[in-house]
Amino acid sequence: MAAREKKYQRLAEVFENPTMHLAVARIIQEHSTNPQDVRLFALEGLSLQSRQDILDVGCGFGFFTLALKGRVKKGAKIQGIDRFVSYREPYLNSCVMAGLKGRFSGSGVKSIGSLPSESFDLVLCSYGLYFFPEIIPELSRILKPEGVFVTITHAENHTKELISFVKEIYKTLEIRAPRILPCEKLVSNFSDKNGKPLLSRWFEQVKQKEYISSLVFNSDSFKNLKTYLLFKRPFFIPEEVEDKDSVFDEIIIRLRRKLEPEFRITKNDSIFVCEKPLKNKSNHVEEKTGLLPLLQ
Ligand SMILES: C[S@@+](CC[C@H](N)C(=O)[O-])C[C@H]1O[C@@H](n2cnc3c(N)ncnc32)[C@H](O)[C@@H]1O
Repeated sequence: MAAREKKYQRLAEVFENPTMHLAVARIIQEHSTNPQDVRLFALEGLSLQSRQDILDVGCGFGFFTLALKGRVKKGAKIQGIDRFVSYREPYLNSCVMAGLKGRFSGSGVKSIGSLPSESFDLVLCSYGLYFFPEIIPELSRILKPEGVFVTITHAENHTKELISFVKEIYKTLEIRAPRILPCEKLVSNFSDKNGKPLLSRWFEQVKQKEYISSLVFNSDSFKNLKTYLLFKRPFFIPEEVEDKDSVFDEIIIRLRRKLEPEFRITKNDSIFVCEKPLKNKSNHVEEKTGLLPLLQ
């Protein structure tokens, strides 16, 4: 595994605990200023009633899968892929809740390589592609010609207030920290800015739409903000920073003072709806031989 991939996979380790992941997902929903559910916004206008072979990549506990309830063919089959086997039970429960026949694989996105070509009519991926943008060609390969791939990712300005706040703390504490925080690097792998060109090489039709939102916390919701930050800690405090616990404590102390009247965190997302997978075999060969690096 390349060093770059390894680094992001270390960041993904925060997701190993499904209970914590679920708790944070609920906090995000509770504090979001946009009343529309991002998953329903992503699926809006798509005709899904006949879809029956579905894949959810980086599925976690099934956040995106749950949104398919009543929207796809009755008894449709869905396969969830994640890198943590701890999601098996929560994911399969979500499939039952959504009325779908679920299967789960905890062997990571590399296992997509062994799935047959043109075998899915709907592929989903929410908040995952920035961990593994190199699988885009494989997603194009496994999608049926009339299939649709829907992905949700963060906008580059995601959590910008927290990012500047944390950088300011590094400065005042005179702690050496990277100029670009792990969360910034991660999002820049696949964001509102580069998502479309990265996908357009593999799908003839790529539509992009923006979901504008913020998370708002006040002094009554301090506990939720702390839980959110504890979960996201490695995204803001990288491994190489000295005395990480003191930095985290300082962030919490100072943030608490900012909650009067409220602290707003930008949480904008971009959605890409991709159709007409490009079956240009030379595209795939060039990618495999490294003649055309996917990410420049
Ligand atoms: C931000 S979470 C999103 C989970 C889910 N899609 C959702 O919207 O709640 C990213 C997910 O990608 C998974 N992930 C990260 N690297 C992966 C890999 N190499 N293969 C499969 N899943 C991976 C993580 O375990 C985690 O469940």
